[in-house]
Amino acid sequence: MQLKTLAVASAALCMPAAALPQAAPVNAEAAFGLITIKSGSQVQNSGVQASLRSLFVNLPQQNATCDAEHNFATFYIKDSKLYLYPRKPTSCGNHDEELQTIFVDRSGMGMGKIGYITGDEGLGRYWETEGWALGDGGLKFKDTGIQACPNSIDGGWSLWLQGVQKPGWNENCTAVNTKPVATENAIGCRYSTEM
Ligand SMILES: *[C@@H]1O[C@H](CO)[C@@H](O)[C@H](O)[C@H]1NC(C)=O
Ligand SMILES: *[C@@H]1O[C@H](CO)[C@@H](O)[C@H](O)[C@H]1NC(C)=O
Repeated sequence: MQLKTLAVASAALCMPAAALPQAAPVNAEAAFGLITIKSGSQVQNSGVQASLRSLFVNLPQQNATCDAEHNFATFYIKDSKLYLYPRKPTSCGNHDEELQTIFVDRSGMGMGKIGYITGDEGLGRYWETEGWALGDGGLKFKDTGIQACPNSIDGGWSLWLQGVQKPGWNENCTAVNTKPVATENAIGCRYSTEM
């Protein structure tokens, strides 16, 4: 894709990293963070994190490898696909960062799962990547918002699409609004790909 083209072109020219065109999109496609909004709950104003191929809030550590210390995820939307904002290439010939793409699985088995793949890892049969937008109530996939489920790893809450009462058999999930937070100097990360 575009990122790969950039990487190939810059490797050929062997430009210093600072001169590389940024993969960062602009304006409507600008990088943003997200916070969850649910007043009176533990997920009021919680920054969304990406870890272990899923999205969370309230993790002590998301354990991403970032260009600067950062415990939250940075996103951008392009052509209704939602991406995690990638790291900058670090030095000439080192352009192995691959784009991480968010998907949803609205099938009966997927139950509204939100996850991410890295690079050209294939999509599962029912995984969808096109349909994301920011609007009233924040981030939505084809007009469906987000819910948060407690008691996930390290005391965090896992994020799912709304629509299934016990997604992944998690109990006590609660619908949340999400609010995009503009970020002027987006911090790129490679988010963990452990399971
Ligand atoms: C982050 O790393 C720490 C230390 O290895 C570990 O205890 C914790 O479970 C990890 N968290 C996630 C979300 O992977
Ligand atoms: C869900 O909430 C109920 C009522 O507060 C509680 O009794 C139950 O233990 C909770 N379930 C889980 C899995 O946290």
